[in-house]
This record gives sequence, C-alpha cells and structure tokens, in this order.
Amino acid sequence: MSNPTSIDYTLNAQQLPTRWRHPLADLPWPLPPVRDPNKPSAAEIMRRVRPAAMLRQNQADPAWVDIPEPVRERLIQIGRPTPLRRALRLERALGSTARIYLKREDQLLSGSFKLSSAVAQAYYCQQEERTQVVSETGAGQWGMSLALASRMFGLGCQIFMARCSLQQKPYRSHYMQLLGAQVQPSPSLSTRIGRELLKERPDHPGSIGSAISESIETALGGSAAYLSGSNANHVHLHQSLLGLETQAQLQLAGESDGPDELIACVSGGSNLCGFMLPFLRHKLSGRPLRMLGAESTAAPRLTQGVYEYCGSDPAGYTPQVLAYSMGRSFVPEPVHVGGLRQHNSSPLVSLLRHHGLLDAVAYDEQEAFAAGRLLLQTEGLLVAPESAHAVAAALASVQTAREQQRQPCIVVLVSGSGMLDLDSYKQVLL
Ligand SMILES: Cc1ncc(COP(=O)(O)O)c(C=O)c1O
Repeated sequence: MSNPTSIDYTLNAQQLPTRWRHPLADLPWPLPPVRDPNKPSAAEIMRRVRPAAMLRQNQADPAWVDIPEPVRERLIQIGRPTPLRRALRLERALGSTARIYLKREDQLLSGSFKLSSAVAQAYYCQQEERTQVVSETGAGQWGMSLALASRMFGLGCQIFMARCSLQQKPYRSHYMQLLGAQVQPSPSLSTRIGRELLKERPDHPGSIGSAISESIETALGGSAAYLSGSNANHVHLHQSLLGLETQAQLQLAGESDGPDELIACVSGGSNLCGFMLPFLRHKLSGRPLRMLGAESTAAPRLTQGVYEYCGSDPAGYTPQVLAYSMGRSFVPEPVHVGGLRQHNSSPLVSLLRHHGLLDAVAYDEQEAFAAGRLLLQTEGLLVAPESAHAVAAALASVQTAREQQRQPCIVVLVSGSGMLDLDSYKQVLL
C-alpha cells in the first residue's frame, strides 16, 4: 500500500448497489420493545401520518430490499455512488502510520448524505399519492435534502427547523425556500406544542425534539405525510448504501482485509448505522473491527447519558424507546452543531453501544471545528461541523496508532459539506 498512484476510489453508476441492506438483518438481538402508554398510541399516530412503505421498511424482513428503478435513477442524478478518497495529505501532515480514507457524502447535490433517504421517501410518498410532506430538521441538512427530493417528486414540503440553527445558518432555509418549501423556526407559534414551549421559555433555542413534535402535530391536523431524516429503521435502511459502496471501494483500494476502524459522527445514527452495519457480519465473525461514534459534548448521550426508556419529543407523540438519553426535557445548548443536538440516540445505536459493539467519544465545538480546519488546510475539504466530530475522533485514533506502531486502515464518514457553515466556523475559530 506504499506510494499509491490514485487517491479517489470511484464506482460508476452501473455499480450503484441495486438493493439496500436492512439494519436489523445482521443484529444478534431484537430491538427492545417500545412502551406506548398514551392515547392515541404512538403506533396509531404513526399509522396515520407515515407513508405505509416506511412502516413496512421498519420491520426486520426482508434482509435485502430492492431499490425501485426511479429511486436508483435519482440516486445517480444526486451523485451516487460517492467517492472514497485516501487522505494522503492529512496522513503526511500527521506523520500517520494509519491509512485514512474519507467517504465523501459531502459531494451529494444538497451537501449531505441525508439526500439518499430523502429521495427514497419522497418516491414512496408519490407512489402512495401523498401530495405534501412535513418534517423536522436540526442544522438544516435534512431539510435541504427533503426540499430537493420533494421538488423532484412533485410534493409540497414544510420544514420545522430548530430556531437557533435557523439563526446560525439562514442560507439553508433560503435553499429550501428556493425549492418551494415552507420553513419555520421551531418552536413556532403555529402549533400548540410550539406555543407551549415558547410560553415556558420565550427564548427557547429549539431542538430536533421540539421540531419533531411540531411536525407530527402538523401532520395530524392536515393531510401531509410525516417523514424523518434519522432514527427510524427505514432511514438506516436507505443509508446502507454508504457501507455497501465503501465495501466495494476498499476492494478497489487494495484493502482486501477490510477496515480496522470505522468512524462516524452520531445523533439519531443514520449515517453511522448506514455506514457501519453492512460491516457488522465481519465484526461478529471475530475480525477486530472498531466502530466509533463521535458525538457533541452539548448532547453527550452515548458517553454520559442513561440507558433508559424515554420519548423523543416533548409533546409525547413518539413512543418511549430504550436508548441512551439525557432525559426528554433536556434542551442542548445552542451550539453550532445543529445536527447533533438531540437528547437521545436511536434504539439501534443504543443497542450497539449497550452490547459493547460501538465505542463512543464526545468533542466540544472547539475541538471539532479545529479538526475541520486541519482537514481544510491539508485536504482542501471543508466538512460540516457534525462531520468534523468524526474527523476529530480520527485524529485521536491516528495518534494512538502511531504511538502503538500500528498501521490500521481507518475509514471516516464525511457526512456533509460545511460550505454553508462558514459563519459557524468563524464564530468558533476566528
Ligand atoms: C451533516 C450531518 N451529519 C450527521 C448528522 C447526524 O445525523 P445522524 O446521526 O442521523 O446520522 C446530521 C444531522 O442532521 C447532519 O446534518
């Protein structure tokens, strides 16, 4: 692997996988049952607001799901398969003994991995003759993706974006609006739960949780389908392309033994699960593969939270799930990492963590943005603040490998572009 001549490992459009891998397919344990005490139950609410295809795909079978041809066409249009890049210049700058690869989800049209699931979900909405969708977004990457996918499939789109993120990253809302989407800060005055949250705390910064409650309330009061950009099994399913493509690309790179370490940032866990779960079989067969999730110290669920039953939104529309949580009323500080500001993680990520399959580490803004700056200075690549947490974790792994004189293959998931986060970089670093 010395002196590689090529640094981008690319697949052509024909090599885009034709099937998704189900996130539960290789899991040795079932997901813990949910608790659903409210009336109407969360299950009943989801039956009313979710497209039926999404509810079906939440179930564990089948292990492989064919990707409908119109979705594959759109996946190719948006930039799939994304490249895997060997970060040679970063390696040199660090004096790295490790080989570092970056999976480049920042290259998709909307700037993040979120677009792959948005395209699939918008397609199923169109198939079920839905005309309008509503959803939450933290930093706005999911909102941008859903706005674009909705436009592709002729759907109206309404987005609730965490208030502090909307103030920090107004360009994301401009993008959504250009595509015809309606964008509101959360908490807003247009829902009952939004008004309640604002009454309790007029300067409420909003969170992914507040935006979930407002989106579901809106869907219940009208005809819009409620969609999610993270947490749910069907989202992890669509994101399995990340891991499946990476497997093929590591072969191209001559890494036939596979990776030694996979690193991704983590909130609800859709980029992490999509990227890592296709490798779970290798890990369970005894290969020493480390899976590492990087979270924010502003919402340190996996490193400091409690594994407990907890709902995902303040209004209680979602069921109580067993997951690592900071408690349902926890509102993260308004850090510039909107995509990681969630009080709990998904049951799937939490199960991996609980059984010791997933390591976790937390970084504050300063550490994460500094890692992002180093990647810009070496590779010329400006990543989203969320992804910068994964980069920070990679820097630590590289240093450990060097101290232990190991030469691991480390693959880092770059979940999004940071071009619209420049003001956040400025606030934290300049
Ligand atoms: C760029 C980016 N990466 C990662 C995440 C975290 O989401 P998840 O944990 O579902 O992958 C987000 C969430 O909004 C994001 O915008």
